[in-house]
Amino acid sequence: MSNQPSNLETQLLELRDQGESAINAADTLERLEELRVGYLGKKGQLSVLLGSMGKLPAEERPKIGAVANTVKEALQNGLDKQRVALESAKIQAQLKAETIDVTMPGIFSTQGRVHPLNGIIDKALDIFVGLGYTVASGSEMESDYYNFEALNTPPDHPARDMQDTFYLPDGNLLRTHTSSVQIRYMEADEPPIRVVAPGRVYRRDTVDATHSAVFHQIELLAVDEGLTFTDLKGTVKVFLQEMFGDLPIRFRASYFPFTEPSAEVDLQWNGRWLEVMGCGMVDPNVLKTVGYDPEVYTGFAAGFGVERFAMVLHQIDDIRRLYNSDLRFLRQF
Ligand code: DAH
Repeated sequence: MSNQPSNLETQLLELRDQGESAINAADTLERLEELRVGYLGKKGQLSVLLGSMGKLPAEERPKIGAVANTVKEALQNGLDKQRVALESAKIQAQLKAETIDVTMPGIFSTQGRVHPLNGIIDKALDIFVGLGYTVASGSEMESDYYNFEALNTPPDHPARDMQDTFYLPDGNLLRTHTSSVQIRYMEADEPPIRVVAPGRVYRRDTVDATHSAVFHQIELLAVDEGLTFTDLKGTVKVFLQEMFGDLPIRFRASYFPFTEPSAEVDLQWNGRWLEVMGCGMVDPNVLKTVGYDPEVYTGFAAGFGVERFAMVLHQIDDIRRLYNSDLRFLRQF
């Protein structure tokens, strides 16, 4: 044949031009992939054109084959170049969109704190749990029976005057101490008992710097065979040491209706003896009331005020600061 470009050669060169401009115009990687498949894929336009090569005279085939190779190469180069360009544009866009301005002010989030009273309760419970005690709780509304009578404090008992009581119209009362949990727990369970009970208590006190009508106590009760006052002393000593550090403590004889003998515990704090808790051996009458045989079982109990501990440990001079939710005060803890 002549030097005239064959029909197929023209078609190949057109395919190249058309493909190159389509590739250069592709604006996404997805579009680019479509074009690759459309031009160079197994069923793409180039394959289709070359499929008709079989009809060419044998002498033209090498020339057309060479042209086809340059077309393929040109298209592949175009695809590669455009892919690099699109990828880098994509990264640039992403960088721009995700740029962090390190000079911008941060997002401020306030941090919560544990209230000093909860802090004391948590710490005390941790210590007793470490000593093998279980945490218990009781109701803040109680009957006279659980708050007084079962605790060896009958109606005419003078000790009732020590705890001025809020009586409710239905004859119940607001518990004046967590000792009521002792009875509830012993009624429901059998020795051996090791239980610690935190909770709110209520008294008709005039409110001042050291008195509040609502405050918190933690009660302690252990009942088992063979418990003695020595066990009580050891337990109280370990607890106070963990709580306050290694300070001198003393047991002072005292009176509570539900313990015999009874004691108050003082702690030497900043050179002064400070009363921190009441305690004693569970009175046999109390054990009998809940159906325990006092010939078999003995027990010890103790109770202390959480506010008192907080005030000593954090040097707080007015109990009301613990209740009026002043953030300037609470943020110190
Ligand atoms: N319930 C007493 C109070 O509120 C404190 C107390 C004293 C509790 C002696 C006890 C105890 O368990 O044995 O003043």
